[in-house]
Amino acid sequence: MWGGPAYSAPCYNSPVARVLMVSSEAAPLAKTGGLADVVGSLPSALQAYGDEAAVLIPRYGSIDLKGLRRVFERLPIHLGPTRYDASVYQAPAEFPFYLLDCPPLYGREGFYGESGLDYPDNHIRFAVLCRGAIAVARTLFKTEVFHCHDWQAGLVPAYLRTTFATDPTFLGVKTLFTIHNLGYQGLFPKTVLPELALDPALFRPDGLEFFGSVSYVKGGIALADALNTVSPTYAKQIQTPEYGFGLDGALRARADALSGILNGVDYRDWNPETDPLIPARYSAEDLSGKRACKEALLAEFGLPHDAMERPLIGMVSRLTRQKGADLLTEAAGQLVAEDVYLVALGNGDPEYEEFFEGMAAEFPGRVAVRIGFDNGLAHRIEAGADMFLMPSHYEPCGLNQIYSLKYGTVPVVRATGGLDDTIEAGTGFKFQEYTGAALLEALREAVRAYANGPAWRDTMLRGMAKDFSWKISAAAYSALYRRLLERT
Ligand code: ADP
Ligand code: GLC
Repeated sequence: MWGGPAYSAPCYNSPVARVLMVSSEAAPLAKTGGLADVVGSLPSALQAYGDEAAVLIPRYGSIDLKGLRRVFERLPIHLGPTRYDASVYQAPAEFPFYLLDCPPLYGREGFYGESGLDYPDNHIRFAVLCRGAIAVARTLFKTEVFHCHDWQAGLVPAYLRTTFATDPTFLGVKTLFTIHNLGYQGLFPKTVLPELALDPALFRPDGLEFFGSVSYVKGGIALADALNTVSPTYAKQIQTPEYGFGLDGALRARADALSGILNGVDYRDWNPETDPLIPARYSAEDLSGKRACKEALLAEFGLPHDAMERPLIGMVSRLTRQKGADLLTEAAGQLVAEDVYLVALGNGDPEYEEFFEGMAAEFPGRVAVRIGFDNGLAHRIEAGADMFLMPSHYEPCGLNQIYSLKYGTVPVVRATGGLDDTIEAGTGFKFQEYTGAALLEALREAVRAYANGPAWRDTMLRGMAKDFSWKISAAAYSALYRRLLERT
């Protein structure tokens, strides 16, 4: 289905907010993690509140032009003396889903880099995305709020406050900067400044400067009209030195403008009653399909059928330190001694990929691992596992534990950020301290609980009954846009 007209005349007195989301990812076309799920589903959820949201992401090489419609040709983007010739495509979606096409910048294999190395011109690639968003707002989608996601969209407020400060098209336009992950900052040497065609006056500690470097995330933090992150607990944590990645001071300085809005999820994609990607469907009323999913998952991973009567732990994760991969390196040996089974899907840092593969080699028939990105398999693990492990070092929100609840797959999580906000005693198991010992203790507690069938089933059912759909969170975003536009 094609999203409505590419352009419709603005109506400034209407209560509707017109929002352009600027992001480096949006499902289903470009995804490495939860950012894509959020940007791909929030716009539709906002429609229930009358808001009109569009999305702009780069048209990466992996996104086939077939199936897209060109809606704007020859959109020159000038960064100082350099001109980038872009055009805009639109993808079929329930909302205007735009893709900025500029093959020299985005027509590559990766989104951010290849073979573990960032592209050396990422500062240009994402500055052009920000300028492309401003151009889209001028030509295709009349915008009142730029909703900028993560560092890749961090320069939008900077350009609006300088280059376009007196441009009548953008008078009264507001910006919201959402931090999905403060661990990724878009840091570049000061020498890139002239290439960005940004007013050098912005290079100061209360602007884009971060200890002598240019920081895109800091640009968002310092210059957006409002800030939020993706759970209430993470919003507090990032204002502390422990979780602030050096930006806690900048965030505290803007505490009045900062809020935490828990991510919602789209149960049209993640629901065991309707999921076409799992071998058998099931519901809280009839869980028999879940057994079938477990059986199929064990077979798919080559694990023994004996595991049917023992806890099967699932993991689906970017393999980085954030996700607690280093905790597992501490705990792995003792974990398998608990007579449990583990299936893991992930990709990321070569060091952790090797660790997971090593674990599978060391404990054949107990631990099975797939390195890679595979959406179907992610669904099959959610459905087939008994428990879902997320021992994150930090977690802004986390979506997998929320999906797990819906699939009756009991989460075992570290109590941090959104994991702490979404999992409670009664729906899952939490541990506080970031140690292998604390992780093992929580898992042992879960394994003991699993032994009591009826009580375990109740835990599953309590999780399945939880509602983390976008309803509440989209209402919070809608209210925030309206506050920015001073509308009720
Ligand atoms: P993050 O965004 O930090 O990676 P989230 O829990 O918010 O963590 O979201 C992760 C999303 O990415 C989920 O939809 C998850 O299923 C998906 N995902 C992560 N790794 C993989 C993978 N290797 N293969 C398929 N899907 C993955
Ligand atoms: C980030 C975070 C994750 C969050 C996701 C979507 O990638 O690491 O916790 O759920 O963004 O907001």
